[in-house]
Amino acid sequence: MATPKLLTMLLSTLVACLCVFDTVVFGQFDKFNKYDLPTGVTGPESAAFGVLPSNGPFTTVTDGRILKWQGSSIGFVDFAYTTPTRTKQFCDGTTDPNKGPICGRPLALSFQRSTGLLYIADAYFGLLVVGPTGGLATQIVSGFKFLAGVDVNLITGDVYLIDASLTYEIRNTTQPGFQPDSTGRFLRYNSYQTSVGLA
Ligand SMILES: *[C@@H]1O[C@H](CO)[C@@H](O)[C@H](O)[C@H]1NC(C)=O
Repeated sequence: MATPKLLTMLLSTLVACLCVFDTVVFGQFDKFNKYDLPTGVTGPESAAFGVLPSNGPFTTVTDGRILKWQGSSIGFVDFAYTTPTRTKQFCDGTTDPNKGPICGRPLALSFQRSTGLLYIADAYFGLLVVGPTGGLATQIVSGFKFLAGVDVNLITGDVYLIDASLTYEIRNTTQPGFQPDSTGRFLRYNSYQTSVGLA
């Protein structure tokens, strides 16, 4: 019979494994599997699947990282980040909204099939792009206050963006007295022109 100490060890191994394996979700969502984030990491905001050899899936989290799923025995690993001011020591695991301008806050991801590049909409750092090996993304367009969405047209490669506000940053939305406005924009970007679409 196993000693209590051994049982504790077995149990903690089991718990450690559950943190990594994708898990079946019960009840109303029993047709889903859950991809658990690394311990203490919060706020997944995007789901994207890459072109080989990138695969994935990929997601973005509150602490500014873009994570890549490496299969159920490894879980999520660091893939990319959006600003040279981000350090793992200062940023990993943070939930402090005021660290966004230092750590980055990527909100949306979309792969460009023709090039294999990953486009990133970061609330603070605008539109960025990163290659299949990840690392520090290259900023394409800055100056947005609250970039929130991106998707790449499969056929033309054009990049569509959601700029959530001309007034507010993402951290303002949880501050007292926040009043939503109607300054959000739907934009299309390509290398020759940037045009404003539906207001
Ligand atoms: C958004 O939050 C920042 C940091 O707290 C603050 O400096 C800024 O004035 C806020 N902007 C608005 C429009 O509330």
